[in-house]
Amino acid sequence: MTALNPAPPAQKGGLGNEEALLSVAGLNAWYGAAHILHDVGLEVRRGEVVALMGRNGAGKSTTLKAIMGLVQARRGTIRFMGHALESRQPYEIARLGLGYVPEDRRVFTELTVKENLATGRQHPRSWPDGSAAPNWTEAAVFELFPNLAGMQHRAAGAMSGGEQQMLTVARTLMGNPYMLLLDEPSEGVAPLIVEQMAEMILTLKARGASILLSEQNIYFAALVSDRAYVLEKGAIRHSGPMSEVAGNEEVRRSYLAL
Ligand SMILES: Nc1ncnc2c1ncn2[C@@H]1O[C@H](COP(=O)(O)OP(=O)(O)OP(=O)(O)O)[C@@H](O)[C@H]1O
Ligand SMILES: [Mg+2]
Repeated sequence: MTALNPAPPAQKGGLGNEEALLSVAGLNAWYGAAHILHDVGLEVRRGEVVALMGRNGAGKSTTLKAIMGLVQARRGTIRFMGHALESRQPYEIARLGLGYVPEDRRVFTELTVKENLATGRQHPRSWPDGSAAPNWTEAAVFELFPNLAGMQHRAAGAMSGGEQQMLTVARTLMGNPYMLLLDEPSEGVAPLIVEQMAEMILTLKARGASILLSEQNIYFAALVSDRAYVLEKGAIRHSGPMSEVAGNEEVRRSYLAL
C-alpha cells in the first residue's frame, strides 16, 4: 500500500529553481534574556531527509520549536510552502501541514493506541501542483509500525518508551503532514527500536516524505539523511551532504560526539 505518493527526486546541491519546502533564514531565538539561536539558516526540499546535528545544548530542539512557533521570542524568516510562519501560532503551523514530534513523547497515557491515533487524524491534503498528498489511514500506519498493530487496544501508558515514541510519530502521520520535524527520534530508546525508527524513516523517504530531524547520533543520521547541518552554541557551523559531514574528522571532533 502506498500511503505517500512519490515526489519528484530532491534536488541535490546548489539552489534549484524550485523553492524549498521549508526555508529558514536569520533565525534568532531567546529564552528570557538568554540568546540561544544566532542567525540559523537551513532549507529542506521536497523529498529530502535533512539532519540537524550537534551536541547536547547545541540548539537543535530550540530550532525545531522556533519553527513550530513554540518559542515566543524569535526573529527571522521561516517560510513553509510559501507561507510565512514567523508570526503564526503553533496550531496554525500544524494546520498548514507541518508535523512535529517533540523530544518528550506526548502520548495520552489513558487512551489506547487506536484512540491515540484517532486524536491525530486530519483531513487529506493535495500538493499545490495537484499531485496526491499523504492520506494516512490507521491500516497504513499499522503497516509502517507492525509492532503497534499488535497492541492496538493497549493503553499507551503501559507501553515502553520506544513504543510510545513510535506512537507519537504514528499519530503525527495521521495528520497527513506535508513535512515532518522529528526531534531526536533515536534518543533514549532501545537499540532494536532505533533500528525500527531508521527503517521507518527510510520507508517514508522512499515514499517521497520530507523530513527534518534533529540528531546527535551520527550513525543514525548517516543511515537516513541526505544532508546535514551542524549546530554549535546555537549557530550553524557546517553543512553539506551527509556523507561529507559523516566523513569529516574535523567537524566530528569539533562539533559532534564521537
Ligand atoms: N525552556 C528553556 N529555558 C531556558 N533555557 C533553555 C530552555 N530550553 C533550552 N534551554 C537552553 O537552550 C540551549 C539549547 O537547548 P536545546 O534544548 O535547543 O539543545 P539541544 O541541541 O536540543 O540539546 P539536547 O541534545 O540535549 O536535546 C541550551 O543551553 C539549553 O540549556
Ligand atoms: Mg534537544
